[in-house]
Amino acid sequence: MTQLPKPSFNDDPKSFAFPSAHKRWPIILKGAIDDVDQEVKENPDLKKSGEEIRGKIESFLQYLESDGELKPFTEEDIKLNPDLKYYNSSLEEMNKEKRVTWLTGRWLNTECFLYQILKLYFLQSSEKHWHQYDVFQRLKNDTFHQSDTGVLELCKRYNILASQLAEKDVDLNSLGILFKEFIDISLWGNATDLSLLAGNVTLEEIKSAQGEENRKKNEKNIVVNNISDAWRALSSGNLGKRVDIILDNAGFELFADLILVLFLLDSNIASEVHLHCKEIPWFVSDVMPKDFDLTLKMLSDQNFFPAIYSNKDDAKAITDLHDSISKYHKSGKLVVQSHKFWTLDHKFWSIPKFEDLYKELLKSDLIILKGDLNYRKLTGDLLWDPTTPFKVAIQDLANSKLPLLSLRTCKADVVVGLENGLFEKLSEEYKAQGNELGSYWTTTGKWAVISFSDGKS
Ligand code: F6P
Ligand code: MG
Repeated sequence: MTQLPKPSFNDDPKSFAFPSAHKRWPIILKGAIDDVDQEVKENPDLKKSGEEIRGKIESFLQYLESDGELKPFTEEDIKLNPDLKYYNSSLEEMNKEKRVTWLTGRWLNTECFLYQILKLYFLQSSEKHWHQYDVFQRLKNDTFHQSDTGVLELCKRYNILASQLAEKDVDLNSLGILFKEFIDISLWGNATDLSLLAGNVTLEEIKSAQGEENRKKNEKNIVVNNISDAWRALSSGNLGKRVDIILDNAGFELFADLILVLFLLDSNIASEVHLHCKEIPWFVSDVMPKDFDLTLKMLSDQNFFPAIYSNKDDAKAITDLHDSISKYHKSGKLVVQSHKFWTLDHKFWSIPKFEDLYKELLKSDLIILKGDLNYRKLTGDLLWDPTTPFKVAIQDLANSKLPLLSLRTCKADVVVGLENGLFEKLSEEYKAQGNELGSYWTTTGKWAVISFSDGKS
């Protein structure tokens, strides 16, 4: 193998790792402390156990801010969560290169450690209440609750589609056009992840990314677009394919993904769709299996979306949509699953080493990977030259027989597959807008890539 580029490191002032580790993580950990306080306030019986957890998060925060060294997990920790043994191996590997500390280590790996450590504090509690506790649930719910305008708009779009599909046989060409539209909906849903709230993005900005008008306006910001190749691969031969989605965030993004799922199933492009979730609270807003169930519950709850339910037609639109998702789920055409792999700190290049997961994914005709973190794991979070072809940056996955479609709004350093000169052009433009680092255009969530590999090259 030729020499690989370096990864993003937390002490590189030019990398988005730097503000993430120095500013955003403390905000996220303080938010977790506030959430535990709130939970204790609502359940006074949890005072003692809650204070224990709070104390652990506080000490961790201090340790992280003073650039402490990452420590291996103990045997006790591994008993509570066997996945942590993979983290110890990874730490051992990284330590061979240089001593890993919180503010100097590799961005991707250290951030994954952070979320596992946070989860561990809840698992260590003698109080059962905390074991399955999602410290980001309140934030997930509140933000989805405020997405009602975007939710209603998509319900209406879906209802029009459903009646069009029911009325007549839609030819393959029209299906292709619709496929692109619904992929677009799912793509821009990724602009709404909640970890961005810990930076300089406001809720208003996140909400404004949810409407159709905005999606149209942003089309020019899709800097790599392989959607036609993906459609060609998916639509060849008989339809009735299996599509897998490696999900990213709960809330509006999951809702947008479910709209895509309904389109795929209603149109018979797919006969089954598998949704892959995280097993622990992850990067603030990522989907766990219970978030799927909760989303269905919220969609059918008049108190959760009072404005939508106050209008008879709108209430019908959201109810129909809820019922369709629920029907597919019950019939087994929509499958919700999870795997420990998604919350390891591994690059996706190692998927083939996890035989059960690899075998499962090989059954798929299209694997859609949502979001920024999945893209970073696909490309190793390495600082590739931006003109590197996607198929080079994903290394052996390019001939793994896995057909991969990445839908990602850019929120980190790495980006590949760009035309010559585009990275530089956008950097100049971004700088001219008054931003100190022009190259940070890749971190704002305002640009996006749709990258495809058929897995056969
Ligand atoms: O914006 C930075 C960040 O927190 C990254 O650490 C991470 O890759 C990403 O956002 C999470 O975004 P997404 O939910 O799209 O994976
Ligand atoms: Mg996420």
